[in-house]
Amino acid sequence: MGQPPFIIIAIDGGAASGKSSSSKILADRFNLLHVDTGSFYRHITYELLRRKVPPTDHAAIIAALAELKFETRLNGRSAQMLIGGQPAGDEIRGQNVNDHVSHYAAVPEVRTALLAYQRGQTAVARQHGFRGLVMEGRDIGSVIFPDAEFRFFLHADPTERARRRENEGRIDSVAERDRIDSSRKTSPLCCPPGAIDIDSTFLNLDQVVEKMAALIAAKIQ
Ligand code: DC
Repeated sequence: MGQPPFIIIAIDGGAASGKSSSSKILADRFNLLHVDTGSFYRHITYELLRRKVPPTDHAAIIAALAELKFETRLNGRSAQMLIGGQPAGDEIRGQNVNDHVSHYAAVPEVRTALLAYQRGQTAVARQHGFRGLVMEGRDIGSVIFPDAEFRFFLHADPTERARRRENEGRIDSVAERDRIDSSRKTSPLCCPPGAIDIDSTFLNLDQVVEKMAALIAAKIQ
């Protein structure tokens, strides 16, 4: 018997749609590298804000990006991005980054700078002996891995998503970020054709995970 085939699971959806919690559980269950691409956009946003480079100044963004070296280290089963050798701090989940991240994520040069890095996570997963990877974001099933074995799109009512954030004790402009993320020209948030659409408004986390896990297990076992 040879190695089981490497699997890629793409999970897209709006803010607080349940992507992170469900993808971490799937990573544990199927021995996958967990990759949260939102944390990559957040880390870059933090760095550009620190350098006082506004999202409107594309020339300055290009110059700043050229100086940034992206590397990866493992944090448990999750891929952690290092910029200039440094991991992101808790600030990337704070209000300032929440308020700005969608504006930087809409800049085509920022997305291009992350494209190869995100695809390169397959090599990280293989190198560390994972069976595959589960990557969460906004454009994973549409742009990063359109041929992934599994592509899920999670959505939930905006009021329910705002309530989830509140329960986590976080202030987040869920609806506003979704509006910007869905309406940008480059790689907008959308359910790509052929992806499995799951409405989690009335489902708890276990129910969402079981829906996805059943489909994955049926195909790979
Ligand atoms: O998943 P998150 O809410 O932490 O993501 C933060 C922001 O990053 C989100 O508002 C839009 C952007 N993002 C993106 O444009 N593409 C991705 N693949 C992941 C995140």
